[in-house]
Amino acid sequence: MSFSATLLKWYDAHKRSLPWRGISDPYKIWLSEIILQQTQIAQGKDYYLRFIERFPTVHDLASASEDEVMKMWEGLGYYSRARNLHYAARQIVERGDFPTELDDVRKLKGVGDYTAAAICSMAYNYPAATLDGNAYRVFGRIYSVEYPFDEQKGKAFYTSLANSLLDTARPGEFNQAIMDLGATICTPKNPHCDECPFCDSCGAHTAHQEHHFPIRAKKPEVKERFLHYFFILHDHRIVMHKRGDRDIWKSLYEPFLIETAQSADLTQLHHPWLTGILKSHCVIRQHGKNIRHVLTHRILRANFYSIYLNDLPAILPEDYRFVPTEELQRLALPALIKKHLDWISDYNTTET
Ligand code: ADE
Repeated sequence: MSFSATLLKWYDAHKRSLPWRGISDPYKIWLSEIILQQTQIAQGKDYYLRFIERFPTVHDLASASEDEVMKMWEGLGYYSRARNLHYAARQIVERGDFPTELDDVRKLKGVGDYTAAAICSMAYNYPAATLDGNAYRVFGRIYSVEYPFDEQKGKAFYTSLANSLLDTARPGEFNQAIMDLGATICTPKNPHCDECPFCDSCGAHTAHQEHHFPIRAKKPEVKERFLHYFFILHDHRIVMHKRGDRDIWKSLYEPFLIETAQSADLTQLHHPWLTGILKSHCVIRQHGKNIRHVLTHRILRANFYSIYLNDLPAILPEDYRFVPTEELQRLALPALIKKHLDWISDYNTTET
């Protein structure tokens, strides 16, 4: 039996039942693919269902505010995905309909080679193989691919290998079968080789080298960052700003922040505005010390303080403003902040 026949036979018997399967609406497939990048299926599924309910069509998504879309994305991470999704929804509405050509799909903001191939193969039966982490692992092991998948030569090799194996009659299902095989059988650790349809022919398995593949050239660098958050409160209002820059959490809201290159305590923070505030009539308390929060390529260490001001400060630092604490529930906040908001005595934790 050919590779694709073996794979699709396995898929027909074992495929996971997922809400974006068996549909051909490119909008829903696009939405599911953006949500599933860097996200576990179980978590992604809930977000997908909520998005589809709130934004059943691309027009609904395009006419929402960015803040609402960010709020709906809250907790998923990689927030540029949500911003790009919203931007691309407006691109689609402006052009009139969802693009049907691979090159036009690829032009949507936030859509790269992988996502364009996924959308077109699943929505339009376009014969393009998708290469995500699962695919590199499955192909890398079965074919003992010695090229690193994170280098250009390796990428080109994998692309041509996957496309040569692709079932051109069922490309969308072929791609999803590779994903399911990678997610359920050919797992990164302790793969279930005895249940794999390629067990007897897999190069890695027959050589007992499953953990050697797929080969990666670079080890992802994990950097530490040191954040000092101040919940600065006056009369049921809190000092907040919307994050900008090319950095984590762009477009999310956060309280007053000082970042340092190394671990630091309050006495080591030199910020003129904060120093002024601390000299005024206020009560300061530390709530969390050196709290570890892990993102994909970052380890954050956070200190949390609350400052209750007796007097309104004459000025606020650039970009910051007072927000009524009751409004916090409507703002998209990083999970790290959300987890620690209960320390504010008048924060109402009831979800709206
Ligand atoms: N990961 C990304 N897209 C997926 C899909 N369509 N099915 C399962 N896992 C996925």
